[in-house]
Amino acid sequence: MKDIDIHSLSADEWDELKFPRPEVQDFDRVVERAISRRGFMGGVLAFGSGAAVMGAGLLKGTTALAQPASRFPFTPIAAQTDGTVHVPEGYSWDVLVRWGDPLFPDAEGAFSPEAGVSVEFSDRVFGENTDGMELFDVDGHEILVVNSEYTNNRINLPHTEDGIPASLDDVRILQNLQGVTVMEIAEGDDGWAVVVDSPFNRRIHNNTPMTLSGPAAGHDLLKTEADPTGASSLGTFNNCGSGRTPWGTYLTCEENFNGYFGAASEVSADAAVLDGYRRYGISTEVSPGRYNYHGFDPRFDVATNPNEPHRAGYIVEIDPADPESTPVKRTALGRFKHENAAYGIAADGRVAVYMGDDERGEFMYRWLSRDVYVPGEDTSTLLDEGELSVAVFEDDMSGRWVPLTPETTGMDAAQIAIFTRMAASRVGATTMDRPEWIAVHPNAAEAYCCLTNNSRRGVLNDDGTVRTNAGGDPMSVNAANPRETNHFGQIVRWRPTGGDHGAEGFTWDLYVMAGNPTVADGPMAGSANINEGNLFNSPDGMVIDSTGLIWIQTDGDDSNEGEFAGMGNNQMLAGDPVTGRIERFLTGPNGSEVTGLCWSTDRRTMFVGIQHPGAPFPDGEGALPRSSIVAVKRDDGALVG
Ligand code: FEO
Ligand code: CA
Ligand code: CA
Repeated sequence: MKDIDIHSLSADEWDELKFPRPEVQDFDRVVERAISRRGFMGGVLAFGSGAAVMGAGLLKGTTALAQPASRFPFTPIAAQTDGTVHVPEGYSWDVLVRWGDPLFPDAEGAFSPEAGVSVEFSDRVFGENTDGMELFDVDGHEILVVNSEYTNNRINLPHTEDGIPASLDDVRILQNLQGVTVMEIAEGDDGWAVVVDSPFNRRIHNNTPMTLSGPAAGHDLLKTEADPTGASSLGTFNNCGSGRTPWGTYLTCEENFNGYFGAASEVSADAAVLDGYRRYGISTEVSPGRYNYHGFDPRFDVATNPNEPHRAGYIVEIDPADPESTPVKRTALGRFKHENAAYGIAADGRVAVYMGDDERGEFMYRWLSRDVYVPGEDTSTLLDEGELSVAVFEDDMSGRWVPLTPETTGMDAAQIAIFTRMAASRVGATTMDRPEWIAVHPNAAEAYCCLTNNSRRGVLNDDGTVRTNAGGDPMSVNAANPRETNHFGQIVRWRPTGGDHGAEGFTWDLYVMAGNPTVADGPMAGSANINEGNLFNSPDGMVIDSTGLIWIQTDGDDSNEGEFAGMGNNQMLAGDPVTGRIERFLTGPNGSEVTGLCWSTDRRTMFVGIQHPGAPFPDGEGALPRSSIVAVKRDDGALVG
């Protein structure tokens, strides 16, 4: 067994380690497998070799798109195992910003490699662990909005014992280094840089005032002693993937929010609250945890503030053009471990938002607005009224969105918004292999979701029952999640009926099953579009560019050994949605996750996030490893992607 260093884990990995799900639950069920693995795999593998199983009719929407002969404007690179970033020949990269770099003139020099950043300047610098990001053109200003997902405590608190906060100031440093950064960037003679004196620059962190809106706002479960209205909270947490709206706002997605809450003394909340804690992984054990906020900031102590965790786990809307605006937690879009948010416009003009809940055996969701989006009209409450649905994937490669309503769930609208996972369990949603980013194709009616891996898929308990998620839903093998003990991950693609993102039904296939044909046969070799030249595991970040190329980022095992041999460090690949071909574009430094992707307005620069490097990246030997955003350009100045 490998020694586990909790400081080198991604937020997802840490959450899995810290909050292991019960081995066996009362409501475990033995579920007959609907299909034999061998019989099913024959069908799935056919997708990679020509998508014949989908039938000609289903593919018309995509094949009708004009595609150049070669969709890849780069020469693919080999897997790498070193401490830096690699891009193809004819491309180069430069650092845009690292955590600790100043966002305001008074924070110049605030970062020190020995001491990190003092509490005074911790909300005046670029945040830690860069993740999802989007770029907005605001009256000609390039405004980059970026998530800071979590902290690397031993680096951020170098004066402490093993990174465990020992004072309120330590807690404040961590709280301030996470959340969202809004910053203007510009390209000068020395490349891209933050415009340090821009009035757009802003840090939104774990204590920034937020408005709660939608069906859960004002509910008793959201009320606290400090906020008897239940409609005004502080902070956004574990901001993972990103999204944007067609009206120019940013969506930040609260993922592993559970980890910030803890118990300073014995917890005696009521049964419904404790049920929710169990389903969402909120610990009632009296211990410091990773952040120890509750040791110094009573707001995070569930023994004294049992409702505070109900105010996290949402999609938060931020206006990048107005630094004075209050971010809004849109409870209508549900409460779970939100990965990202990807919109599509339904045929009648309503807004669909697709979202994944990243935990083993949790679900995929679609929210559909009640009202239509009309460009130029008021959108301030558009994300407050609508219908949340959860995905069912049938083994015949059809699927449907099942609405979560009082009629289907027996829960009221506020309960559905707060305990969304429980609502989804009541309608028989399909347990998924950890849904990470979803991407909607801009030019075809289809969408993709990275299902990163699921080590417990299909695994049996000692008594022969199959493992479940925390709600008791079995993680049996199903057609969309077809492999037991899935260490590699897959990308599922669906096409809404009639090309309408508002339709109830869809058809689906697997765009790719990652695997390793150099060391494994059968299902673990992966689908036919995996070969020795493009090996990867654990697809996570994903964006489809305006030309239709699918950019796939990984957050997986970078040991380069055993079943992961030949995969090298985490990386970014590009995929052709039509042919299924996938090629490697970029590799990250040792230990890092490649996550977050967007482009400059002129599309001549691509911005890529490098999170939690293990090597002294980007400043080289002797320097601290620092999460960074890199700017990638073509040497000939042409468009990137
Ligand atoms: Fe923060 Fe599931 O990635
Ligand atoms: Ca992720
Ligand atoms: Ca991940």
